[in-house]
Amino acid sequence: MSCKIEALKNAVGTVNIPADKSISHRAVILASVCEGITEIKNFLNCSDTDATVSCLKKLGVKVYRDFGSLVVKGKGMQFALNKPVELYANESGTTMRILSGLLSAQKFTSIFDGSTSLRRRPMARVIEPLNKMGARITGSAPRNSSRNSADTAYPPLSIFPAKGKLEGIEYELPVASAQVKSAVMLAALYADGPTMINEPCACRDHTERMLKLFKAKVEVKETVKAKGKKETGAREIFCYPASKLVSPGELSIPSDFSSAAFFIVLGLLLKDSEIMLKDINLNPTRLGLLNVLKRMGADIKEVILESGEGREPRGNLTVKASSLSGVTVASDEIPLMIDEIPILCVAAAAAKGKTLIEGVSELKVKETDRMAAILYNLRQAGIKVSITPENSICIKGGFNCKREILFKSFGDHRTAMSAVVLGSVLGNCSIDEISCIKKSFPDFISLLKSLRSRK
Ligand code: S3P
Repeated sequence: MSCKIEALKNAVGTVNIPADKSISHRAVILASVCEGITEIKNFLNCSDTDATVSCLKKLGVKVYRDFGSLVVKGKGMQFALNKPVELYANESGTTMRILSGLLSAQKFTSIFDGSTSLRRRPMARVIEPLNKMGARITGSAPRNSSRNSADTAYPPLSIFPAKGKLEGIEYELPVASAQVKSAVMLAALYADGPTMINEPCACRDHTERMLKLFKAKVEVKETVKAKGKKETGAREIFCYPASKLVSPGELSIPSDFSSAAFFIVLGLLLKDSEIMLKDINLNPTRLGLLNVLKRMGADIKEVILESGEGREPRGNLTVKASSLSGVTVASDEIPLMIDEIPILCVAAAAAKGKTLIEGVSELKVKETDRMAAILYNLRQAGIKVSITPENSICIKGGFNCKREILFKSFGDHRTAMSAVVLGSVLGNCSIDEISCIKKSFPDFISLLKSLRSRK
């Protein structure tokens, strides 16, 4: 049954955004293979991070809740299993891809499966570099006949113990993927020598930062190409073998900029709005959307509360209603805002003039084909949108739809939340279902409702 999206006149007040999903995954994974006990404050509760926690529990790690924190008893670099294990990543690509790096270096076989939607997501990108290091991973044939039948690397994965030690490699990332980069970095901890990852275009660097926190040796060098273009530029990442990781004792997860993005755009589009978002992760490799919105004319102010070498920068954001104008977003900005394209398209739909978002083919292999989902929902709302042959999205801003609108979530959390934001601004809108939102942001609808009651 479809649900009605309630219209909002304005949005005023403070919104408590949940913890960062990417950092939560990495925190519980590294806390599991280090020595010592780690208390993770403000760990995100959602179905994706639940998947990572249940895999780690199945691998023998003790993880429990204690007054709002997640406490993890590290097992050291090797999980003590002596027979094959079946793991289930549910819908979480991050769980499957990042843990594959760790499992490649274990002494037992893992059979790693996921939900129907995860079974449609490509895994060759992670299998290829890990097997180059000496891992023994095989994927499965695609279930969906519309896929290229020559490509057999979809879940379930079989990860067999390597014959001997993994080898350090030099690897250039063919796609700007933080999940692939992180899998290789974790495997590199177990290798016989250093690994160098060449990243032609920067993407989120939480693993690099967190490995340092757990006392692993990681060096990041900006290459000549990147000088003066720190956030988007090329990097070389050197990862060194580690005999052990050391727990930092406690760590606290900042709020997720990707979740904040929905409220940022809502605050910009509804007149007379002013929203305050506190303790948000302000890592530059996540802030592509912030930079693009500012170019569009957005009134967003940030106050940095904490930053520093290797740490995750965090701070507060104040967002005021603004009139936006269309811009061009270059393809090298995309990895810095890969999860925010659906909500950027909502902002572009409200902006004056044309917005061109270049090179977004990666959207096709997210939880759903997000390019098709954007096209469908914006067209439902009467917005002129097209996809170019180069996989760029072109949107001509301006709302003029008077009829009732029914959006679709396509089973994808970020598509659903973007449609709900658009529907709250337009009024007279419904969406087919919203249960998928629990993947990253279970409280999204109640936070939206809390803004409504403050009207
Ligand atoms: C993530 C990386 C991104 C992002 C995903 C989370 C991560 O995926 O889309 O939501 O935590 O590393 P890719 O690395 O595939 O781009």
